[in-house]
Amino acid sequence: MLKNFVVAISGGAGKIGYSLAKSVIKNNGKVILGDANISQGKKLAKKLGKNCLFFHGDLTSKKNIDNFIYNGKKKFKKIDAAIHCAYPRSKKWGTKFENLKAEHLNEDITKQLGGAIIFSQVFMKYFSKRKKGNLIHISSIQGLAAPKFEHYKNTKMSSPIEYSAVKSGVISITSYLAKYYKNKNIRVNCVSPGGIRDNQDSIFKKSYRKSCTSKGLLDSDDLNGTVLFLLSDNSKFINGQNLVVDDGWSL
Ligand SMILES: NC(=O)c1ccc[n+]([C@@H]2O[C@H](COP(=O)([O-])OP(=O)(O)OC[C@H]3O[C@@H](n4cnc5c(N)ncnc54)[C@H](O)[C@@H]3O)[C@@H](O)[C@H]2O)c1
Repeated sequence: MLKNFVVAISGGAGKIGYSLAKSVIKNNGKVILGDANISQGKKLAKKLGKNCLFFHGDLTSKKNIDNFIYNGKKKFKKIDAAIHCAYPRSKKWGTKFENLKAEHLNEDITKQLGGAIIFSQVFMKYFSKRKKGNLIHISSIQGLAAPKFEHYKNTKMSSPIEYSAVKSGVISITSYLAKYYKNKNIRVNCVSPGGIRDNQDSIFKKSYRKSCTSKGLLDSDDLNGTVLFLLSDNSKFINGQNLVVDDGWSL
């Protein structure tokens, strides 16, 4: 399906990024796996084999994103698509709304939303030069609607207000960019996943399941089909959209 198709994935050593990297390679594509976590990145890239190149760096920095592209091109000659999956979090991520401090709030918003914008800026420049490209952002159900606070009751979990702000921002920059680059043969889309299973509190899992239609929390592999579709020509005329993969959470 993706023969010789080269995909750059930021946050490629994370839950969602790695799952997508595996699925690109399984479908005969090639991956430039970028991540700030060097040990995990190296380990996973090795597992993926010769069709994967690991790039280590903070991919919220323009210089590093430039190098990410430079190294990818050097190895695979070109980059056809990019998926932004990096998920930088400050030390105080998860602080209750009432206790938020500007310092950490600004860091999270700058790195998460600002990072998505800078990542787009650098890749759109590269895709414009190539006269084709495909950029995919990852938002979240928290960007679509208010959190279902009742799911967090009697647990230590929370959903930060800045996460909602960032994730609706990501949906918004997706449609902005798709239209800004009209007639340039570049598509920009977004995927909004529901919660991904990751040893969450069982109380949370149970109440979360009640808002869904068949599974509840998803596995990261559950997103692969949708992302492959967006990468492929089967979605040729889908542009600026946000595809929700949430087992009905948002209904
Ligand atoms: N896990 C979920 O339940 C869930 C649900 C919906 C949406 N999402 C979204 O999916 C995306 C990926 O989330 P995930 O669950 O895979 O997260 P994760 O924490 O498992 O992976 C994120 C990866 O990003 C890397 N990273 C962090 N800061 C970086 C930086 N500055 N530069 C480069 N790499 C950096 C980390 O090292 C890590 O490998 C995020 O945008 C997240 O908001 C996640």
